[in-house]
Amino acid sequence: MKDIRILVIAVVLIAFSFTGVIVRVASVEGQTGESSGDKKMSGGGMMGGGMMDREGMKEMMQRMMPDMLPPGIKPEALPEPDSRGAKLLSRYCTQCHNLPSPAMHSAVEWPAITNRMFSRMSMMSGMMGMMNVENPSSEERQTIVAYLQAHSMRTISPGALPAPESKGAVLFRETCSQCHSLPDPQLHTAAEWPKVLERMRGNMDAMKKKVISEQDRKTIEEYLMSHARK
Ligand code: HEC
Ligand code: HEC
Repeated sequence: MKDIRILVIAVVLIAFSFTGVIVRVASVEGQTGESSGDKKMSGGGMMGGGMMDREGMKEMMQRMMPDMLPPGIKPEALPEPDSRGAKLLSRYCTQCHNLPSPAMHSAVEWPAITNRMFSRMSMMSGMMGMMNVENPSSEERQTIVAYLQAHSMRTISPGALPAPESKGAVLFRETCSQCHSLPDPQLHTAAEWPKVLERMRGNMDAMKKKVISEQDRKTIEEYLMSHARK
């Protein structure tokens, strides 16, 4: 089932990519006479124009499924940015979308997610070379997963929340488990939580989720601050 879904995504991606690229090149050339659309192609290959390059593929994925892709962080924002794990993550996991943060998912969740990504890479790197995707070795895969797990999010099961019946707990549970599991309120101090919430507002916007009202943000903030790490 999952394989079929991935295949459909890949095929749609390819179909979409060529029409998108051709339309864009045509319209750019029509307007200015210079072909800035060339940036989307990387020489030689199909349609007399060429394969999609990385940036072209990422841009298109972002257009097609912004709600499903990590909004992305900067490589220098990764924990231990000079470690081999961080380097491999930056190299392999930015081929189709922005760089995912290890803190987005728990250590328990990462293996299933990375397996989904690895099978895409295997498949797409094998697709007649059309997609230009690099496939990590099994040793590199292990290093990536270990790195993600080492810097993953500490989560809490909804049943273990403090003051579980309070309005804050209910809103927190509903709002903050849409893209990842529920983070443990003890993850941050009261001073840190407001900044995290502010960043999540940006993530909600980027991933096309309903951005929470100011009122709800405040209720969640108060809840997290009162159960924060001391
Ligand atoms: C070949 C293209 C491709 C590569 C390379 C790739 N991804 Fe993805 N990724 C996708 C697609 C397509 C989606 C959206 C569908 C989905 O979630 O499966 C996605 C979504 C995601 C998401 C958001 C969904 C979620 O469950 O939170 C995360 C996180 C993610 N990828 C992590 C990674 C990591 C880590 C790597 C490197 C090991 C990686 N990706 C490499 C194609 C790719
Ligand atoms: C639209 C999707 C989305 C929603 C909804 C969301 N998050 Fe996140 N969250 C992310 C992404 C993406 C990351 C990893 C990148 C980052 O840290 O910004 C993340 C990471 C985190 C982290 C780990 C990073 C850190 O600074 O500790 C915490 C904690 C967190 N979210 C808390 C929350 C809370 C609290 C809410 C509810 C107000 C929430 N999230 C709602 C997308 C989301």
